[in-house]
Amino acid sequence: MVLIGKKHSQEGLRFLVSVGAGINQIPLILEARKLGFHVIGVDANTNAAGIVHCDLKIQESAENYPEIYVKLREFIIDGDISGVLSKSYGPSIKTACYLAEQFNIPLVPFRRVDDFLRKEQMKEAFARGGISSPRFKVLGDAKKSSIPAGFPFPFIVKPAVGHAKKGVRLISGEKEMKSYLAECAAGTQLLVEEYVEGDEIIAAGVVHRGKYHPVDISDKIMSPHPRFVDLAHISPSKHYRSLDRIAAMGQKVADAFEIRTSPLIMEIRIDENGGLHLIEAVPEFGGEFIPDVLIPKRTGYNFIGETIKAVTGMDFRPPEPRAGNKSMVVKYLAGRKGTFLSFNPVKAEDIKGAVFVRIFKDVGAAVSAPETNHDRLGVVIAEGKTREEAVDNADLVIERIGIKIRPEP
Ligand SMILES: Nc1ncnc2c1ncn2[C@@H]1O[C@H](COP(=O)(O)OP(=O)(O)O)[C@@H](O)[C@H]1O
Ligand SMILES: [Mg+2]
Repeated sequence: MVLIGKKHSQEGLRFLVSVGAGINQIPLILEARKLGFHVIGVDANTNAAGIVHCDLKIQESAENYPEIYVKLREFIIDGDISGVLSKSYGPSIKTACYLAEQFNIPLVPFRRVDDFLRKEQMKEAFARGGISSPRFKVLGDAKKSSIPAGFPFPFIVKPAVGHAKKGVRLISGEKEMKSYLAECAAGTQLLVEEYVEGDEIIAAGVVHRGKYHPVDISDKIMSPHPRFVDLAHISPSKHYRSLDRIAAMGQKVADAFEIRTSPLIMEIRIDENGGLHLIEAVPEFGGEFIPDVLIPKRTGYNFIGETIKAVTGMDFRPPEPRAGNKSMVVKYLAGRKGTFLSFNPVKAEDIKGAVFVRIFKDVGAAVSAPETNHDRLGVVIAEGKTREEAVDNADLVIERIGIKIRPEP
């Protein structure tokens, strides 16, 4: 841990803890600094890309919350910690909730946070809260399970604990289910769910003192079945007219999980009759460049900055969600099995309609077709007057990047 000055000389400083200090956490760290906070970055990697923007660092894996707490207590007086947040997911969120509770900061109660991480607990909480979500069944051990009764094909199967679409599969027949089960490690707990056909949206929102505020909704475009990799997000969603019902669902989630203040991401399927089905809810900002690029650039609402204000008790400005007259697309570059040979570096500033470009993989790396979100090669964000124009602009940028892959059989 690197510290500036001694305990007593820090009086009057306001600290914000960022659980995680990697490249994806930089937007949170920078927004906190803009609001005048000193940022304490927690990351196992002392060379994490965001560490240079932090005032203090704690070298600790994001899931080791007791150790992180001890390190924080060694140097910081309780009252000095104004907020704890994470722009990451899962275990980092759990740590953020633990730390927040120790420092009396309102977030999600620590005793409830596993209800978000364990999918069967999440589904049970949805049911208790009267929240519409696909019917499900738990398979206790993949190796001892067979085809579940009462779930006609096709149905969804997924690991009870998971993220980034790992292991989420649409199963169309007996043979497929058998080979899925055979691939699972012994003891793997699974969830089987009724498959909801329809559009899918991501609803980004913020809960402030128990009240849910929708921020923006975007349409999700996914890879073809049977896998579910996110390939694009388009905002505004075609379903903006359902905003009030989506907000009502967000409020039910906030109540069911006793969220006090937190960002909240909901993945919702919309059936042909307009019915909403909550697939997943997480007390996260969400990835996919939605909180840090898409929302602020399209709507003008500083989602991350306002959430920091909400958590730290500063003057919070609620969002005013609108479809507006600008469209934006977050489009991912998907590869195929082979070696990443080359690409043309481009700057978004130099291209009309382009907003943001990032290539994730290094030249020379082995790449594959998208089976999980981690297999994607890069991202292009573009804007336009219409959805079509935004998508066309993104495609032009992708063409200019000209990714080359040497295919492998
Ligand atoms: N019951 C379902 N009906 C339809 N699609 C589903 C269902 N469950 C999951 N999916 C699809 O799979 C994706 C990933 O599922 P999810 O449970 O969110 O897993 P992860 O935690 O990996 O994101 C969803 O965004 C959705 O597109
Ligand atoms: Mg999900």
